[in-house]
Amino acid sequence: MDQLIVHGGATLRGAINISGSKNASLPILAGTLLTAEPCIIRRVPDVSDTNYMVQILSAMGADVERSSGTVRITCDGISDTAPYELVRRMRASICVMGPLLARLGRAVVSLPGGCVIGDRPVDLHLRGLEALGAKVEFEGGNIILTAEHGLRGAEIDLRGTHGPTVLGTDNVMMAATLAEGTTVIESAAAEPEVVDLADFLNAMGAKISGAGTSRITIEGVKELHGVEHTVIPDRIEAGTFMAAAALAGDGVTLRRVNREHLKAITAAIVESGHAVDFNESGDSCTIHRGGNLKGVDLVTAPYPGYPTDMQAQMTALLATTPGISVIKDTIFPQRFMHCAELKRMGADIKVDNGTAVVRGVEQLSAAPVMASDLRASAALVLAALTAKGSTAISRLYHIDRGYEHIDEKLLMLGANVERVKGG
Ligand code: EPU
Repeated sequence: MDQLIVHGGATLRGAINISGSKNASLPILAGTLLTAEPCIIRRVPDVSDTNYMVQILSAMGADVERSSGTVRITCDGISDTAPYELVRRMRASICVMGPLLARLGRAVVSLPGGCVIGDRPVDLHLRGLEALGAKVEFEGGNIILTAEHGLRGAEIDLRGTHGPTVLGTDNVMMAATLAEGTTVIESAAAEPEVVDLADFLNAMGAKISGAGTSRITIEGVKELHGVEHTVIPDRIEAGTFMAAAALAGDGVTLRRVNREHLKAITAAIVESGHAVDFNESGDSCTIHRGGNLKGVDLVTAPYPGYPTDMQAQMTALLATTPGISVIKDTIFPQRFMHCAELKRMGADIKVDNGTAVVRGVEQLSAAPVMASDLRASAALVLAALTAKGSTAISRLYHIDRGYEHIDEKLLMLGANVERVKGG
């Protein structure tokens, strides 16, 4: 297992390109199961989660070629069973369920377990697929979905106790593309990644309207065809580098971003006293560290609210921002594992009941720390950039799940980081 050693104190400058979105790529790759024709997906980030998805599709019989961000997939002659050994490694594998069911009338997928960011049920996915006419059974740790006579359009409300579900919306939307009749999803997730999936499916011949709002309508079609699609920029990777630039930068430019998708993150960074300037077309921005900083209050919320996937990184930024910040995660109230590690580096944070109260300290100090999940590990890297001394971050495989070449991108900006074997 690799470790990342971050020698604190370097100033970040220069420009990098933001990669394609991991969370848009995963359902889009799964969506290729809806057609027997070849699909070409561009800007798929080279991270282990997209590799798992590619491996799952290959194991189910898809023909996959991957080279520098472009994945060519043909899902002809596929099986209805996603192999447990691969599925258990990544919760997002659940999004093969909808397309398999729609295409083959049967899907066998292992039930994903909980994970460190909290309980992650799939009841809403199943409720939606059942409403389309699927029979749901559980056997030997698997979910078995069958629709012997095909799926039928229905009106479905996908609201859960923590708001809408992103992958649940994706699953039901994909299944409904080939259902007979019209499906209306109420309380749908409106995240840009859902819109990217809908754009991909519409290019394949689906009839989806309303993606990006809380009401999505899908008119079923008989079949879908192969397409080429370019994945949207990763707003969470962009946000993470915005936070890095705010912490340790002196003019960092991020290219290939989407200003619209970054509104809530930009607002939080600006509110804490930093400057974020976009170019006219909104696809590039430059971040300057501010001179007059202050704590902010943040509450995570479904899009267009502040994303839970940027909660840990902002907590790291606020750990050394003067004043008191209050950060509440309403989507994953247990997603505060990074705080214990940040405290080991000298941060003053109290976590209680889904809320972190952060009292900004002047500087953190290096300590050996452990990554617990993807975004928590990004938070530790950020904290280490300005900490006194060299921080060793172990269990780096968490960060490799979702950040493409993060160490190379940091090096390009002038950070002093090294990846070492072991740890
Ligand atoms: N929920 C239910 N029942 C369900 C599904 C979800 O109660 O059937 C609850 C969850 O427990 C949570 C809330 O609904 O409290 C929202 O979860 P959601 O289903 O939206 O999460 P997801 O679709 O499984 C995606 C991202 C996550 C991101 C969340 C929230 C992908 C591959 N994953 O997960 O990304 O945190 O939406 O925005 O798109 C990450 O990239 O680090 C990551 C964890």
